[in-house]
Amino acid sequence: METIFHKADAEGIALAARLLKEGEIFALPTETVYGIAADARNGKAVAEIFKAKGRPQDNPLIVHIAGMEMLAGLVSEVPERAHLLAAAFWPGPLTMVMPRGPEVAAECCAGLDTVGIRMPSHPVVQAVIRQSGCAFAAPSANLSGKPSPTTAQDVRVDMEGRLPLILDGGPCEVGVESTVISIVGEHPTLLRPGHITLEQLEAALGEEVLVSGAILEKLKDGEVARSPGMKYKHYAPKADITILDGTFAQYKAYVDAHKTAHTACLCFTGEEHRLDVPCVCYGREGDGEDQAKHLFRSLRALDEQGDQTVYARCPGKDGAAMAVYNRLIRAAAFRVIKL
Ligand code: TXA
Ligand code: MG
Repeated sequence: METIFHKADAEGIALAARLLKEGEIFALPTETVYGIAADARNGKAVAEIFKAKGRPQDNPLIVHIAGMEMLAGLVSEVPERAHLLAAAFWPGPLTMVMPRGPEVAAECCAGLDTVGIRMPSHPVVQAVIRQSGCAFAAPSANLSGKPSPTTAQDVRVDMEGRLPLILDGGPCEVGVESTVISIVGEHPTLLRPGHITLEQLEAALGEEVLVSGAILEKLKDGEVARSPGMKYKHYAPKADITILDGTFAQYKAYVDAHKTAHTACLCFTGEEHRLDVPCVCYGREGDGEDQAKHLFRSLRALDEQGDQTVYARCPGKDGAAMAVYNRLIRAAAFRVIKL
């Protein structure tokens, strides 16, 4: 299949809206990461996404909307908490898991009776949905298991020949996928951390939000993931990454003692001049938002340098950094050394 690479301008948006209505898939930018879109009501179109990504069938997709009126038919009920969260964070990088409505294609939901809904703020997403009239299902636009793409060029590396169109809207603002919160059941539960933090969710809801066990640790054998995506090998670069949890001085001492010809560092911005091995930076120390913005591009940059042993600086675990830690421990296959 030939893949058209087009700027996300008026012409590109019109092309995408037409593909969506015709039951085709394509890649587009969002404020979080690039996604692959298909009409959420068209099961055949949605099935094409799974094929293009090589994604396991039991991992459900998020449905994207452009206004609250589009919830009708997609969810069977709009919980009170959805109104509070939508008022605070929509449009924006938040996905709410709600009771599933009759019009969502079964292929989106992997057999669950819930559906994840997000209203993105990216103007290209809003325009494509408005022009087509279609809510769309969209996972991140990477091959399954690889880091999510934050530039159109990264989408191209994974998806060239696998879909008819990639819209180029420049680098993504947030850089990690949306925060996912479940608002079915008695207590709201954070299923995936993102730009919208736990503290912000609790402030908007006025109640405690539980944190799903899979977020900061490996699931134990036999434990069931509430967010199916959490159980898969994820964000895995070719390099073997180990996170070193300690000060910069401890980190540098460890790297110096263990370095070989194939060692590289995934460090904070500015530290590259103080280390004697090849370095890729992933954002400023203590700045979770900056780290989130650069993490996935940095993981891909490590791959572009070839197979290596990588020592990563350890991000924080709360606020905006929780999303970074959550992605990085998966990229590191949960190898963390406390210095
Ligand atoms: O920022 C984002 O959310 C991006 C952009 C493209 O919008 N999309 C994205 O989709 O990250 P994906 O498919 O890569 O991740 C969806 C996550 C998975 O971990 C999945 O298991 C979870 O959301 N999820 C989706 N529907 C769910 C549901 N009904 N219940 C629990 N988890 C769900
Ligand atoms: Mg993904």
